[in-house]
Amino acid sequence: MRGCRPSRLPGDGPAALPLQPETATPAVHPCMGQPLITLHDKAFRPYLSASEIAQAIDQVAARLNADYAGRRPLFVVVLTGGFMFATDLLKRFTGDCEIVFIRVASYEGTGSTGKVQEIMGLREDISGRDIILVEDIVDTGTTLHHLLPTLEANNPASIEIAAMFYKPASLRYPLTLNYMALEIPNDFVVGYGLDYDGLGRNLPDVYVAA
Ligand code: XMP
Ligand code: MG
Repeated sequence: MRGCRPSRLPGDGPAALPLQPETATPAVHPCMGQPLITLHDKAFRPYLSASEIAQAIDQVAARLNADYAGRRPLFVVVLTGGFMFATDLLKRFTGDCEIVFIRVASYEGTGSTGKVQEIMGLREDISGRDIILVEDIVDTGTTLHHLLPTLEANNPASIEIAAMFYKPASLRYPLTLNYMALEIPNDFVVGYGLDYDGLGRNLPDVYVAA
């Protein structure tokens, strides 16, 4: 991957903020010349600025505000990575809503079901509720593919997924992804809630392996 911002992808995520066309890219992008950072043994270079991220969240939030007007959704935030996106997204949500946090533990089942997801922390009765699942990133989609049936078994009125980042080239499952803030290429990124072996979650900008 070249440059400090993701290239435009033909991905089919209808809701993702289209990345700016090349003509709109300033001659000197704000990332240029910014120093590399090191997390553990790896160097990362600037990739997306906090203001680009904020702009993308504005757009997702505007659509959620329109789509959920008068509905009092329950935002279910998937920890740990989803905490920062959830904070910024929820500050922009103007209607009544509720928020809960869950963790997902995955392990290999001994039977034919394969990978099993256990949801920790969901004590609320979600039956009849409009659920908005808040994730840091949809990569292969494996997590959501296993998590969604567990939630659906509790008979919510609806489930939508809101994620800060989405890697269309990496997706392996047919998921309905209506509220993706930014599409990115299939590269490992850190910052804005995402970590490399525990480090980097606190960074307001996003970085990619140098
Ligand atoms: P999928 O969709 O493949 O993603 O089930 C599962 C989880 O993997 C993490 N993930 C990443 N973490 N940089 C990270 O720091 C990345 O580029 C990245 N891609 C996936 C993330 O926790 C996601 O929820
Ligand atoms: Mg995650």
